[in-house]
Amino acid sequence: MHQNTNIRIASTDDLERIVALENLCFPKEFAYTRRQFRYFLMKANSTVLVETTEMLIRGFIIILYRRGTTVAGIETINVDPIHRKKGIGLQLLSATEKLLRKKGIHKIRLEVSTTNHAAIKLYKNAGFKKIALLKKYYYYDHEGSRDAIRMVKEL
Ligand SMILES: CC(C)(COP(=O)(O)OP(=O)(O)OC[C@H]1O[C@@H](n2cnc3c(N)ncnc32)[C@H](O)[C@@H]1OP(=O)(O)O)[C@@H](O)C(=O)NCCC(=O)NCCS
Repeated sequence: MHQNTNIRIASTDDLERIVALENLCFPKEFAYTRRQFRYFLMKANSTVLVETTEMLIRGFIIILYRRGTTVAGIETINVDPIHRKKGIGLQLLSATEKLLRKKGIHKIRLEVSTTNHAAIKLYKNAGFKKIALLKKYYYYDHEGSRDAIRMVKEL
């Protein structure tokens, strides 16, 4: 059973805990930096949602808006390794959809590494459809692949 979940819009007070979670999930060379997170938290063209239990941030998602369009992008989604496979990722995506519908956004777009099986599964479960294979999309290798899948969901 899923625990009661609390998903809210993050503020700069969450910065350190978000950075700590990012560093738990990714090695330094691939992780977003504190400066990038501060930008995502403070700029108007993005929203960060966090999933929390009291003092603990268990997951977050970064949403980017495209000026003058009704399309938004998912920049990244991250769940604490010890809290994965409990549906937190899916809950962050449904909270994202709810927020975006309210904002009049009609489509979500994202790219995911062809070898990131957990993330691909999560997005498929959430109703995203593959629309393109992007060869050599990433600068770095993710488990032997630099290729990405582009996925979309109409809201
Ligand atoms: C991707 C991620 C956010 C998923 O978070 P989560 O809270 O575990 O997600 P959920 O529990 O809602 O769902 C995950 C689904 O993937 C499945 N899954 C997990 N690991 C898997 C694997 N190695 N291969 C295939 N499927 C896998 C789970 O079983 C579940 O599907 P199910 O409910 O049909 O069984 C999490 O794995 C993560 O933080 N990964 C590292 C960061 C990352 O790569 N982010 C994506 C960047 S685009």
